[in-house]
Amino acid sequence: MRRPIIAGNWKMNKTVPEALELVEALKPLVANAKAEVVVCPPFTALWSVGQALQGTDIAMGAQNLFWEAKGAYTSQIAPGMLLDVNCKYVIIGHSETRGRFGTADANLPADEICVFGDTDATVNRKAKVAINSGLIPIICCGEMLAERQAGKTDEVIASQIRKALDGIPTEAVRSIVIAYEPVWAIGTGEVCDSDEANRVCGVVRSTVAEVCGQAVAQAVRIQYGGSMKPDNAVELLSKPEIDGGLIGGAALKAADFQAIIAAAE
Ligand code: PGA
Repeated sequence: MRRPIIAGNWKMNKTVPEALELVEALKPLVANAKAEVVVCPPFTALWSVGQALQGTDIAMGAQNLFWEAKGAYTSQIAPGMLLDVNCKYVIIGHSETRGRFGTADANLPADEICVFGDTDATVNRKAKVAINSGLIPIICCGEMLAERQAGKTDEVIASQIRKALDGIPTEAVRSIVIAYEPVWAIGTGEVCDSDEANRVCGVVRSTVAEVCGQAVAQAVRIQYGGSMKPDNAVELLSKPEIDGGLIGGAALKAADFQAIIAAAE
């Protein structure tokens, strides 16, 4: 049985005091959760939140990393720095770091969209370094609206997964997390139909099976992300291929996040 995993991606939200207020509110609400609970604050709050979470079952993740261990990489954060502040997880290749923004920004010139510059190749490098460092990557994949409309969803997803997993030892893949996040559903309030989300998570799993074998594919946890809220979480999380959620907006309020965690049970 795969243990459900509900991760809150706080994105560029919460000052340190606000972050602490949120985790303190969450602690009693999720103390006996059956699902694994993860919060991913911005870098500036990792240390304080990591301290506040000591002795609890809530795990912490970062929202990105760089693949070098240290050196002249202005603005970047190394895997060892994340371990140092007690991160267990790290989100890799979120559509917002790949520059695959949703429809609202689709008309921007490419050089303005790709401000954070992740590609399938950097996602693969980051995933390898995360695993080698002892962090668990939450690897994101997802199609853009135009790709879905062109009937390319499965092709895009399979390609992102194959490239992300390239060269990673099969046994290491067993413990990673993959998040399927249709780009058009992120932050838009437009959730993916639960049967379709389940189907595409199945495409993710069969691609993992193709690369790493059936046993690993059955062990790997696959989340859905994109406008998951308390009112649609039960429906999504009841689907057999969906092992949890990567939650943006609804993770910023303790009661909403807790309701989604409860829905995973
Ligand atoms: P959302 O974001 O829940 O606000 O749509 C999900 C994500 O981007 O991880």
